[in-house]
Amino acid sequence: MRAIVCRELGPFDRLELVEQPSAPIRPGAVRLSVTACGVNYVDGLFVQGTYQIKPPTPFVPGMEVVGRVVELGEGVTGVGMGDRVLANVGLGGFADEAVVGADRVVQVPDVLSDGQAATFMQSYLTGWFALTERAKAQAGQSMLVLGAGGGVGLAAVDIGSARGLRVIAAASSEEKRELARSRGAVETIDSSLTPDEVKEQAKAASGGGVDLLYDPVGGALGETCLRAIGEDGQYLVVGFVAGIPRLPANQVLLRNRRVTGVDWGAWAGRHPAENERLLAEVLALIGQGRLRPVEPQSYRLADAAQALADLADRLVAGKVALVP
Ligand SMILES: NC(=O)c1ccc[n+]([C@@H]2O[C@H](COP(=O)([O-])OP(=O)(O)OC[C@H]3O[C@@H](n4cnc5c(N)ncnc54)[C@H](OP(=O)(O)O)[C@@H]3O)[C@@H](O)[C@H]2O)c1
Repeated sequence: MRAIVCRELGPFDRLELVEQPSAPIRPGAVRLSVTACGVNYVDGLFVQGTYQIKPPTPFVPGMEVVGRVVELGEGVTGVGMGDRVLANVGLGGFADEAVVGADRVVQVPDVLSDGQAATFMQSYLTGWFALTERAKAQAGQSMLVLGAGGGVGLAAVDIGSARGLRVIAAASSEEKRELARSRGAVETIDSSLTPDEVKEQAKAASGGGVDLLYDPVGGALGETCLRAIGEDGQYLVVGFVAGIPRLPANQVLLRNRRVTGVDWGAWAGRHPAENERLLAEVLALIGQGRLRPVEPQSYRLADAAQALADLADRLVAGKVALVP
């Protein structure tokens, strides 16, 4: 099999494409011939060694895969040869094969291409968890989404719009803002303006202050946009691509604002059954055409380093998939 191996944490260009023996099949597992693997911002943090969890080296990055079942381990039921399935594998996705527990694979609905199916799970489940379980968002509320042309932000735009929220999307390029509009954003803001200008435009677009701020970006932009939140509104802490914001407590006190943490990954690990329910809810809405994961930009497996670099350099509108 071919796989992208990270031998030491550091720059993306140290990743190597290697030919290695296939992993043995184990009881209760299936072997997938991987047709697409999602690339997430977090994969880049793993490789660079800048994530809070540092995997022991060597390791194969990649969390989300889609593939065809090509081998069944002993005792597997409910999954058949040739099935098109998706799985959250944690690590090991940047490869042309994966051995996954049969209880962890999910049949891919016909409405999704392999690329869409390999790239929606982390982004959409984070957004779904944030808005339904954490924020308890209500139809009619306004929500400012930062990084709205990226994976996590765009999913929040799609989910928020589908749930009847009034979504205001901030992104740095017209291509990203157009993508956000295509997923239901009613207003867009150019996030390459100063943080103060973004804040003022968000306040104006929401009639005085947003009910929710969905923030996968953080840094100075997140910190400033806290001030765009209206009475009893919530700041959803999702990610820190621009740095960890230092939220001033006086600004939380003012207007009775609330700050809500969103840690989907760890929560999903602790609550697998509830996470399965969330995935089923999201897949049902995808099946009804009410949620529309974007078709990703595809890169060859050999170009994994380039894919990670383009994502980190903010060159990607939407999502990225590796196609082995
Ligand atoms: N809390 C959770 O459970 C959870 C789950 C999954 C991911 N996350 C986190 O969510 C964040 C976003 O992930 P993602 O997959 O959506 O990433 P992504 O696809 O790369 O999108 C991130 C967006 O952030 C914007 N951005 C602003 N400043 C940036 C900077 N200095 N560097 C890079 N991008 C910048 C970019 O949009 P513009 O160019 O428009 O500014 C980019 O489109 C990450 O921090 C990730 O760890 C959290």
